[in-house]
Amino acid sequence: MSNQGESDGELEARLPEGESFSPPESFVEQANVTDESIYEEFEENWPECWERAADLLDWEESYDQVLDDSDAPFYEWFADGKLNASENCLDRHVEDGRGDEVAIEWVGEPTDESRTYTYDELLQEVNEFAAALREQGVEEDDVVTMYMPMIPELPIAMLACARIGAPHSVVFAGFSADALATRMNGADSEHLVTCDGYYRRGDPLNHKDKADEGLDGVDHDVTTVVVDRLGDELDHELGENQLDYDDLVADHEGATVEPVTRDAEDMLFLMYTSGTTGQPKGVKHTTAGYLSYAAWTSHAVLDIKPEDNYWCSADIGWITGHSYIVYGPLALGTTTVMYEGTPDYPDKDRMWQIVDDYDVTQLYTAPTAIRAFMKWGAEYPQQHDLSSLRLLGTVGEPINPRAWKWYYKHIGDESCPVVDTWWQTETGGMMVTTLPGIAEMKPGSAGPPLPGISADVVDMNGSPVEPGEAGYLIVNKPWPGMLRTLYKNDERFINEYWDEYSNPDKDEWVYFPEDGAKLDDDGYITVLGRVDDVINVSGHRLGTMELESAIVGVEGVAEAAVVGGDHEIKGEAVYAYVITEDGVEGGADLREQIVEGVEDAIGPIARPEEIVFSPELPKTRSGKIMRRLLEDIANGDELGNTSTLRNPEIVDDIAGKVGED
Ligand code: WT7
Repeated sequence: MSNQGESDGELEARLPEGESFSPPESFVEQANVTDESIYEEFEENWPECWERAADLLDWEESYDQVLDDSDAPFYEWFADGKLNASENCLDRHVEDGRGDEVAIEWVGEPTDESRTYTYDELLQEVNEFAAALREQGVEEDDVVTMYMPMIPELPIAMLACARIGAPHSVVFAGFSADALATRMNGADSEHLVTCDGYYRRGDPLNHKDKADEGLDGVDHDVTTVVVDRLGDELDHELGENQLDYDDLVADHEGATVEPVTRDAEDMLFLMYTSGTTGQPKGVKHTTAGYLSYAAWTSHAVLDIKPEDNYWCSADIGWITGHSYIVYGPLALGTTTVMYEGTPDYPDKDRMWQIVDDYDVTQLYTAPTAIRAFMKWGAEYPQQHDLSSLRLLGTVGEPINPRAWKWYYKHIGDESCPVVDTWWQTETGGMMVTTLPGIAEMKPGSAGPPLPGISADVVDMNGSPVEPGEAGYLIVNKPWPGMLRTLYKNDERFINEYWDEYSNPDKDEWVYFPEDGAKLDDDGYITVLGRVDDVINVSGHRLGTMELESAIVGVEGVAEAAVVGGDHEIKGEAVYAYVITEDGVEGGADLREQIVEGVEDAIGPIARPEEIVFSPELPKTRSGKIMRRLLEDIANGDELGNTSTLRNPEIVDDIAGKVGED
């Protein structure tokens, strides 16, 4: 399709706001879920409706009860059932005679590097590494940490852990050494799988040094397995208690490991995520509830079928990659594409090259990426044949209608439904989105809650708000994929998620995701973003407290306040307001140290967009920092009322400094 002579802006502007799009007929004809009565059916038959998700799995022993809510909000799902997640993602497909079909298409960053794993091959690799982990002393219920980029050994290690009943805790490779240490200490994890390095825009990047530095901060002994990703490109040495992945696997060539029988409610993995306080939260997901929910939503929303070439471009270091690169797609026995690199290397058409080369049928990506594609221009996708695509998805942050429409038109050729999926690390899988074979799509609005999910938008007192009014999103019934607790911290689990709107005396439990939202007359939910002290930068959750404590840890800094400001591509960006110890303007050196401090504590994703030095921060008479005002300043918005401030004169002073450097 051509849009010569017309800029994207002009083109998108022709599509009026507030309009809706019908699911393309060609899609509906073949969709996994097309019967609208599913909403009613799930509602009438709740919670038994969730058997539909459980039926997507193979059980070693069936369950008697779907939901046990006797100890709410510590809900249990399919509780007396038994199964193994790796068996469900691998063995059963091989036993079905599908061992020759492709499980993982791995696309390396270098354009000449790729690997294909059939289900047979993946099962073999998983077996061998599972045997190796066992020999390393990994026992059932030991937490194994993975600090790895997008290389095949990451899902292999995850599935190997699932096979032997050892929960994994994957730490995003872009996180810092400190972040690794915090998470390993928090989970008492005595085992680490990592690698020497990986490519970033053509250059080998050392990862092992960062892993070693993290290990220095772990307060117990750790055995480490190191994958040699870069071979001769990067030398590395193995220290004490460090073993080479290839050697280990070679020692177990041809090994088979019986999948351990797990209880439905046994932990499958931990995933740390940012919250309001400085300490990341160890979100606990269990075997049956999580896996069935990942599989069900992959089936119903992503419309995955075994013969698809499905691609989710997230990183496995985040929940999106867990649920929708590894567990959901593999449980359904499809081909999952996994890409190591960035979307603009070696050129800005890399993603479209991959879609073309692998005949990708579904693409699931993030608004931040779509906004970047939009900025780069439609000529990049136009260089490739994208006609294999059948469905498009987005996740991670609100998508602006312009970006939605650009995606729909320039990537989907107006013939693929777009699913805007709202969910969280804690929810395990998608919660609010249209079913692509059924519902009208409204750009900018995620859609109604999925069948069986009960969500609403309420005011501060928990009363439903009028359509069109902003309120708070709540979920007032449990669902199989929900987190079960925060690792070894039931109290924080209650405080973080169930305190706000529940009524424990009446045994009424309401989950609060800490997002703002509004409803329209059709029950579509538009998610407005976080209402806690969490910033969403390119779809990544960053806690302002974590950022502030990293900045205050820098010598010469007395106080810091961090807020999220609007950003054209990233959605939000980090704005740091800093008071120095001697009260004077910090120089280039201090700026540099603050950036380093943040990168050391969290990672480059948390790098401040702007650092503003000020002799004071705007505070209320009771001494609370007025963050809202700092947000307005970051966004260049009109400033709200400053009369309640102790120091109103400081506001103009700070505002004058934003955008200075
Ligand atoms: C937060 C969760 C879900 C996996 C990736 C992020 C925001 C997520 C949407 C969406 C508007 C969204 C919310 C949520 N969010 N998806 N479709 N529309 N906002 O997982 O790191 O746990 O972050 O991301 O604010 O609470 P996460």
